[in-house]
Amino acid sequence: MVNNRDCGIALIGFMGVGKTTIGNELSKRLDMELIDTDKFIQEKMNISVQEIFKKYGEKDFRQIEKDVIRELNKKRNLIISCGGGVCLNEENIENIRKNNKVILLKASSETILKRLENDRKRPLLNGKMNKEYIEKIIEDRKENYHRAADIIIHTDGKSVEEITGEIMEKLFLK
Ligand code: S3P
Repeated sequence: MVNNRDCGIALIGFMGVGKTTIGNELSKRLDMELIDTDKFIQEKMNISVQEIFKKYGEKDFRQIEKDVIRELNKKRNLIISCGGGVCLNEENIENIRKNNKVILLKASSETILKRLENDRKRPLLNGKMNKEYIEKIIEDRKENYHRAADIIIHTDGKSVEEITGEIMEKLFLK
């Protein structure tokens, strides 16, 4: 469990479900270090995720992401906020499941769209920021997200405190 100092937490789910916000709150409450894979990649490469997509393409981004997940797998007791596409790769799923309780955050396409509408930092949604497209990718990824998850949390209509409280309850009771 997470109070066993070797076990970390990985937050997964679609863009805009609140992984980073919830990760920050959990990090404070549990006094565990938070690493956001996108931020980690950006700092390591000294270039933004959007720029990586633009300059090198998605395939290269996925390779970098995979290397980062391998690297983080060697560390212990972290909260890892995973980019929304981490679970597209089987090796990533295996790796995050090795040392972490994996928490899937879910939100409706309406909520996601509201949160991301004016966002220019999600290259996959460039020019396709609409409910139908979001629903399509969620559907395509659903099986992977569910297979990777130990705990599933529905976030619609809940505050950060409520979501974090629910996660802690499930982590410590499970
Ligand atoms: C992606 C999600 C993004 C980022 C990249 C690709 C995805 O992270 O890794 O734009 O494929 O869902 P967030 O989920 O943190 O937005």
